[in-house]
Amino acid sequence: MKSIQILIVDMGSQYTLVIGRTLRELGYRAAVLSPGKAEGWLKSNKPKAIILSGGSASVYEKNSPKPPKNILKMDVPILGICYGMQWISHKTGGLVAPHHERKEYGEAIVKFDTKNTLFHGIKHKNIVWASHGDSVEKVPAGFKITARSADGKVIEAMSNTVRKIWGVQFHPEVTHTKEGKKILVNFLERISGCEKDWQPADMVDDIRNETAKVASGKKAIIGFSGGVDSTTLSAVLAPVFGKNLLAVCIDTGALRRNELEEIKFNADAAGVNLKVVKAASRFQKAIGRQTHSELKRKKFKKLYGRILEEEAKKFGADFIVQGSLATDLIESGSAGKADLIKSHHNVGLNLKVKELYPFRNLFKYEVRELARQLKLPRSISQRQPFPGPGLFIRIIGEPPKKDKLDIVRWADGEVSDILKKHKVYENVSQLIVALDCQRTVGIKGDGRVYAYSVIVRGVRTLDFMTAEGVQFPSEVRREISTAVTKHPKIVRVFFDETNKPPATTEME
Ligand code: XMP
Repeated sequence: MKSIQILIVDMGSQYTLVIGRTLRELGYRAAVLSPGKAEGWLKSNKPKAIILSGGSASVYEKNSPKPPKNILKMDVPILGICYGMQWISHKTGGLVAPHHERKEYGEAIVKFDTKNTLFHGIKHKNIVWASHGDSVEKVPAGFKITARSADGKVIEAMSNTVRKIWGVQFHPEVTHTKEGKKILVNFLERISGCEKDWQPADMVDDIRNETAKVASGKKAIIGFSGGVDSTTLSAVLAPVFGKNLLAVCIDTGALRRNELEEIKFNADAAGVNLKVVKAASRFQKAIGRQTHSELKRKKFKKLYGRILEEEAKKFGADFIVQGSLATDLIESGSAGKADLIKSHHNVGLNLKVKELYPFRNLFKYEVRELARQLKLPRSISQRQPFPGPGLFIRIIGEPPKKDKLDIVRWADGEVSDILKKHKVYENVSQLIVALDCQRTVGIKGDGRVYAYSVIVRGVRTLDFMTAEGVQFPSEVRREISTAVTKHPKIVRVFFDETNKPPATTEME
């Protein structure tokens, strides 16, 4: 599969992901990364085009987002959108003014210099969507003004073709900008030389061919959680390996209610043979009395890797296939190491058996799209994520022993059923139900008891980097509190509606 041509640096705008989605609609793939992650990624990748998104900050704020260092010296065409353009101007000697009297919010009429390549083929006078308080008052030396608001007051675009830098004050990615897509295509094709590469159907073939080259006639196992990544990868690779592929599901004892049945259903849908390895007691022993979430994760990961190796040996596998995505590799600092095979790496498990990473260049939205292409059921393509260490990291304050796992599993099942009944479940990106083992007083029957609390959290997000805490309707909350406190060990239910940041998705 071709490497990613376009980098979108997320400077904090609500529209950043809209840029990615619009580019896909136009036929281009893009990596959307925070400035810190983009910096790491750029060490081993050279994109053909970079877009600095908008953002809600002012360049004068102390901690306002800053793109990767030296981004303006990379000799790669750059388009700054809104805050992105203001940052470029501020950085290169222009003047950004907090002109609130010139702020724009909504549709604006703009006059374009259509001789500028960025605006090739669009109408001179045009409608755009703008949303900003600050604006560029004076463009930096060497830059030309290439668009102004119809009243001439706001500088709407600037460019320095020698330095390959373009800026627009409005949002071309938003549909209200009448010819925004043409502007983006001009930037990608005429200016940056990008080629269309977002063809989900081709992607399936690319991954199959690439894997067949190294693995044809060989045997492999795949760690199978039943999630969208491992299920879709299994469906992609099933025809490549045939009977030589075995999906291995490790039952850690920390799965949710009915999850094993779902896993079996998903393996079936993906067309792979499944082996379930019962390992609850091994995980209990390994995690022991650990309460610290990071240490729980480490112990979990070590045993998980060991069991995969054992299973690979039993099956006589030449490879262990991993469903890690570009984001997973970026998170662990290994982005851009574009080899298909890694026998030793610092991402995952440091296994002795060679590992294959066929999805290493993909993002979650692409995997969901592949799942749709492969006609996998919607329950798979839209499946909510669930952390690898499962319910082990949903028990707070006490070791995650079996009795606690049983309580949180039961509570998660009850809450999920209620949310599904009210058709709320499918509208959240992820449901988190955790057990807080801090005991508080309550009344059960005729007596006082000291018992646990359950925390219910729903988040809505596109990428899990930021998330909105969901407010469930009051009647749904009441039904959940009533249902969950029927458990003899639960006296309270808390609803966590905090956004990320400051809270994370998981309670740990
Ligand atoms: P946070 O809590 O960091 O979670 O906002 C973001 C997403 O990552 C999932 N998550 C994990 N997934 N192993 C995983 O496979 C883990 O250790 C882990 N910790 C968090 C979390 O469920 C959410 O979807």
